[in-house]
Amino acid sequence: MPTPRRHAAAAAAATLLALAALPLSAQAPAAGKLKVGLMLPYSGTYAALGTAIENGFRLYVAEQGGKVGGREIEYFRVDDESDPAKATDNVNKLIKRDAVDVLVGTVHSGVVAAMAKAAKESGTTLIVPNAGASVVTGPMCGPNIFRSSFSNWQPAYAMGEVAAKKGHKRAVTITHKYAAGDESVGGFKEGFEKGGGKVVKELNLPFPQVEFQALLTEIASLKPDAVYTFFAGAAAVKFVKDYAAAGLKKSIPLYGPGFLTDGTLEAQGADAEGLLTTLHYADGLNTPRDNAFRLAYVKAYKLQPDVYAVQGYDAAQMLGIGLAATKGDIGKKAEFSAALRKAKIDSPRGAFTLSASHNPVQDIYLRQVSNKENKLVSVASKALADPGKGCSMK
Ligand code: PHB
Repeated sequence: MPTPRRHAAAAAAATLLALAALPLSAQAPAAGKLKVGLMLPYSGTYAALGTAIENGFRLYVAEQGGKVGGREIEYFRVDDESDPAKATDNVNKLIKRDAVDVLVGTVHSGVVAAMAKAAKESGTTLIVPNAGASVVTGPMCGPNIFRSSFSNWQPAYAMGEVAAKKGHKRAVTITHKYAAGDESVGGFKEGFEKGGGKVVKELNLPFPQVEFQALLTEIASLKPDAVYTFFAGAAAVKFVKDYAAAGLKKSIPLYGPGFLTDGTLEAQGADAEGLLTTLHYADGLNTPRDNAFRLAYVKAYKLQPDVYAVQGYDAAQMLGIGLAATKGDIGKKAEFSAALRKAKIDSPRGAFTLSASHNPVQDIYLRQVSNKENKLVSVASKALADPGKGCSMK
């Protein structure tokens, strides 16, 4: 006769066996906390961008009562300092040390490449809430890698078309020398030259340097019809101020993707007034969805939201869509991915879908700075999809 204790052990073993025999989908929803690894810049040039992304992410989770796909969230944070040299170590802190279920990051295109590589190797789900590097939704694309933001090409290409339509013929570009700057200039050049313009000189300096003086002097002597620039965060603040201080603002129109003036207008003040930029977000969209988001964000953080906050918010929404389809089980990769691939994501920017390479297909707005707002002017490019060159989903 087995003892009562043995009886209980045998019964437990039998239950386990029975559970193992059930198809996964018939099992109970995943339980316990879902570990979210936020790898973002919390210091340096892009510190404000990282904070806005985290704020947006947390706002969406809070709106769901602190749970996504039925799971409570536990956050793990790493400051990546926008430093590509530390990126592999940093992402491994989250994957190996903290054993996170999902990675959310980052801002800098040179750092995200290491994240995508680690996500591919470990199979960890990665949602990119900013960095526009083409590799993420190009050669490094994968079924477990998604972007809630943009590709560097998208706003840049749209701005190239806008500048050409304005009749500008000769443009000079100026940017930080790294993947984001190079790809942004490439996108602008493509749109601008298709429309009959010519990029006559490409100027750059290493990230995160902000000694612009010699380059501004060169722009003055080249006398182009227009200048196109990619700078963001603290570098964007300084560039816009230096451009005006050099006396160039009144003689040579300055264009850029909206990172030039998003989240920066308080600091840029009058020097940004009138600037035209292109981006997948704008102030004054005045849709019920965006108005509700902005109200909630201001209430939670006593700050105006910007494009980075929207991208963080949408990264959490995307996680929610995937988890709703898998009853909270992030391990069900195929179902998670399938749900996102057919989703219409109800973003404050306007609803968007994901392309075959998992990049947002979205409207790009033309905006103009007026009274410290990036006011909507028009839709520069409707439902613009990144070409996703080099992506084969395996
Ligand atoms: C990038 O490195 O991809 C990047 C950084 C900051 C931005 C936009 C893109 O605002």
